[in-house]
Amino acid sequence: MDPDAYERFMGRFSTPLAPGFADFAGLGTGQRTIDVGCGPGALTTVLVDRLGVRSVAAVDPSPQFLAAVKARHPKLLARLATAEALPFEDAQFDAAVAQLVVHFMADPVAGLREMARVSRPGGIVAACVWDHGQNGRGPLAVFWQAAQELELVVEGETSRTGATKGELAELFARAGIRATEVAMVSVDVRFGGFEEWWNPFLLGVGSVGTFVARLSSDARAELRARCSAKFPTGAFTVPAAAWAVRGTPD
Ligand SMILES: C[S@@+](CC[C@H](N)C(=O)[O-])C[C@H]1O[C@@H](n2cnc3c(N)ncnc32)[C@H](O)[C@@H]1O
Repeated sequence: MDPDAYERFMGRFSTPLAPGFADFAGLGTGQRTIDVGCGPGALTTVLVDRLGVRSVAAVDPSPQFLAAVKARHPKLLARLATAEALPFEDAQFDAAVAQLVVHFMADPVAGLREMARVSRPGGIVAACVWDHGQNGRGPLAVFWQAAQELELVVEGETSRTGATKGELAELFARAGIRATEVAMVSVDVRFGGFEEWWNPFLLGVGSVGTFVARLSSDARAELRARCSAKFPTGAFTVPAAAWAVRGTPD
């Protein structure tokens, strides 16, 4: 996936989410932390700023994203890997964190179990996933609502793993991680106007981008008009919220 396109599409939500998620995870100076599914580095950058580059490691299965995060932080320990097979010894880190990744893992329980394995006993495992439940508050909620109204889809992202109330904590439990805190982390993202919100949907990022690209031009125009009608003219704010869980490996 093109990191620049990702930044323009999802980065506008994940970048402002990262400081709040890092606060929630309770990471302090000197804590050696691994960012799992780092992408181009929204959370990694916050970790590097707060903890220092020597205390941070990052993994992602996408070579393009890994190259992007390395370009941002040349001294970062960055590896090409999935959460399910972390290339680190046991108990190497004080904390393992994953922002907006669990729902993309092929096996979320195995991924979380690996995050616990590489964390020291009593350390921190934390993850967050956009709230895609019924009346969900994911950043794309308006888009999926419009697509459903036009009967272009049956459901949006409501079936993504871990994305409804209580689900992420349950995955932690199944991975043997005792959840100590569950919260919502929220962001408000400001847009100068509708075009600024809509245009990145045409960049082909993720399943949404693929979905938009496959629509006929008439259906795409109809969807665009339906979305536009849901926002005021001029600038507006899109709120988004993610379920966040913090736990301690046994
Ligand atoms: C929505 S992005 C989040 C990226 C970054 N954490 C952020 O907040 O911007 C999801 C990321 O998960 C990565 N990913 C997908 N499957 C994964 C897996 N099994 N293990 C780890 N990361 C995975 C993708 O390559 C992508 O970088």
